[in-house]
Amino acid sequence: MNRSFCIAPMMAKTDKPFRFLVRQLSKEALLFTEMLHTNSILYGNRNKLLEYDEIENPIALQLGGNDPKSLSEVCKMAEAFDYDEINLNLGCPSPKVKSGNFGAALMDQPEIVKECLVAMQENSSKTISVKIRLGINGNDTNKTLDDFVNQVSSVGVKVFYVHARKAILDKLSPKDNREIPPLNYKRVKKLKKDFNDLEIIINGGIKDYYCKENDFSDLDGIMIGREAYSYPRKLENVDSFFFGKKDKRISLANITNNMFEYFETLDNKKDIQRGLIHMHGLYNGLKNARKIRVLLSNSNYFMPAKNEIIDLLNNDFKNVA
Ligand SMILES: Cc1cc2nc3c(=O)[nH]c(=O)nc-3n(C[C@H](O)[C@H](O)[C@H](O)COP(=O)(O)O)c2cc1C
Repeated sequence: MNRSFCIAPMMAKTDKPFRFLVRQLSKEALLFTEMLHTNSILYGNRNKLLEYDEIENPIALQLGGNDPKSLSEVCKMAEAFDYDEINLNLGCPSPKVKSGNFGAALMDQPEIVKECLVAMQENSSKTISVKIRLGINGNDTNKTLDDFVNQVSSVGVKVFYVHARKAILDKLSPKDNREIPPLNYKRVKKLKKDFNDLEIIINGGIKDYYCKENDFSDLDGIMIGREAYSYPRKLENVDSFFFGKKDKRISLANITNNMFEYFETLDNKKDIQRGLIHMHGLYNGLKNARKIRVLLSNSNYFMPAKNEIIDLLNNDFKNVA
């Protein structure tokens, strides 16, 4: 699988409507689900949580949890849904995640992590990968990271998505944990040098992804979160730049139209509302962006909003005709 360009898993953002939106711009980027805790799948509406549309491929399922048995059961269930990859979240720093002892809290418990990963591999035909930080709290020395990667890879895990900063679990909010601990791209590059047989995908704070300035070419891919969410139109050259394929080249008016047609296929109002919010970033930089966002936010006037937005994007439509 080609992981040259991935969209990072983001709770409340990388849901089905957002993934559909991304697919309007890139066919090739590897998409991730939001993190799903094993318990929500085992005891919740698993079909609704796990199902996705064909168009979303290639797609990885991200799981949160620390219980090998639950993880293996979920991996078995996920077989029927045919994800391209299953990823274990070892990087999320939220207090809820910490108190449940999963996510980043597991980075100083490699034995549990190994048990989980072995159980997942035994019960899945898919690639099992991990998403990690450079360390947690004071445990972010070169040695601790190397030891952790050594141990995790010793059970056969070969794909690592690395958020290039450590997490500080007790003192910072999840948001601050994505901004305050400094980024250290060099450390990720060193990881690739030292573990050349592993696939290392770098993540964290990458904005200029078409520019060679950051030079991530010695790594196996880049993973983009907030920048892709806020400025989805920037994704329009991903297929040619990262995958050597033809770009989709679709006008903003057509994307808008496709999104509204897609909403008509959804029966859950909440999904539609979330999808409308995800669309906000599409119009960044346009003269009428604010007007369009107001129309999108007013989902009570669903169809009138569509027509007005299309009017505001009339020039784009002319380009397509
Ligand atoms: C709103 C939000 C939700 C997130 N949820 C998850 C998640 O479910 N699983 C995960 O591994 N990381 C999650 N992250 C972290 C991102 O995957 C990514 O590692 C982080 O945002 C840094 O990348 P960026 O600077 O490109 O955004 C989340 C980030 C944001 C902003």
